Amino acid sequence: MENLEEKIAGASSLEDLEKVRIEIFGKKGALAAEFAKLKDVPGPEKKAFAEGLNRRKAQLQALFDARKETLAAEALERTMRSEALDVSLYSGLGEKGALHPVRETMDRIIDYFVALNFAVESGPMVEDDFHNFEALNLPKHHPARDMQDTFYFADGTLLRTHTSPVQIRTMLRQKPPIRMIAPGAVFRRDYDLTHTPMFHQVEGLVVEEGDKVSFANLKWILTDFLHEMFGEVEVRFRPSFFPFTEPSAEVDISCIFCGGEGCRVCSRTGWLEVLGCGVVDPNVFKAVGYEGVSGYAFGLGVERFAMLLHRIPDLRSLFEGDIRLLEQFR
Ligand code: DAH
Repeated sequence: MENLEEKIAGASSLEDLEKVRIEIFGKKGALAAEFAKLKDVPGPEKKAFAEGLNRRKAQLQALFDARKETLAAEALERTMRSEALDVSLYSGLGEKGALHPVRETMDRIIDYFVALNFAVESGPMVEDDFHNFEALNLPKHHPARDMQDTFYFADGTLLRTHTSPVQIRTMLRQKPPIRMIAPGAVFRRDYDLTHTPMFHQVEGLVVEEGDKVSFANLKWILTDFLHEMFGEVEVRFRPSFFPFTEPSAEVDISCIFCGGEGCRVCSRTGWLEVLGCGVVDPNVFKAVGYEGVSGYAFGLGVERFAMLLHRIPDLRSLFEGDIRLLEQFR
């Protein structure tokens, strides 16, 4: 029964202490051996012997508990130290993200028009014939419908082929004056170097009471817009045809690659076509029940702008999700 106190005090780890516990308090331990002697103690001394033993046992238990607490606290302290995480330590932010070039170009376009007080409108991508064609002066069997290879659903609805239906929805919902753009995804059955089945357009529409809006206003704003996007380029309005505008024009800028000299990108013409526009056709106003108003409209392809601004040779690469493409736009 010697040195039991020392044994407890000498245990240097919880595992050590557990061994000591078995040695002292276990079934075959030191205390059990002492208690076994009780039966040989003469009657009159039994009580004192047992009391002494119980006192000793209680003292050892108290020592043991205290030591256990100390060792457990030390162990916890060690774990906390070794597993400590310094959250204030800078470890680098890893890869930095980037806006997709289409998003970035779209944002630039939107910013320009929002600064001029245009509202940003949107409409559904699954459209009906009325909004996508009919109300835009493209009646059934109109040959211009062939220009747009449309994805149709069985019920006659379709994936919008342009953002122009948002013009119609906005005019049906609001009264003039209207000054809006409609950015969004559009869908056509096309797939080659410069066409993907899904791409993005920004539509623009301005409508005022009376004859306040003219082709001159349209020409000014688009020229200013193109200068903002492409810098000091020549801008040219070329007569064209769209069912929803009359007169209509396609707008070219002098080639930003060769400065108008003629190169492969501009097919040696010195010009790059960048958007379509015109004065809103009276039939469109009729379809939405507008009278005595004037307006202009325009539409552009965002990918086309992104390709020119970033010199991206293959439009399809914008939608393949290859991280190596995005990494170039950080
Ligand atoms: N909707 C035409 C297209 O998808 C683009 C367009 C041209 C829109 C002329 C217009 C416009 O509003 O006036 O090709």
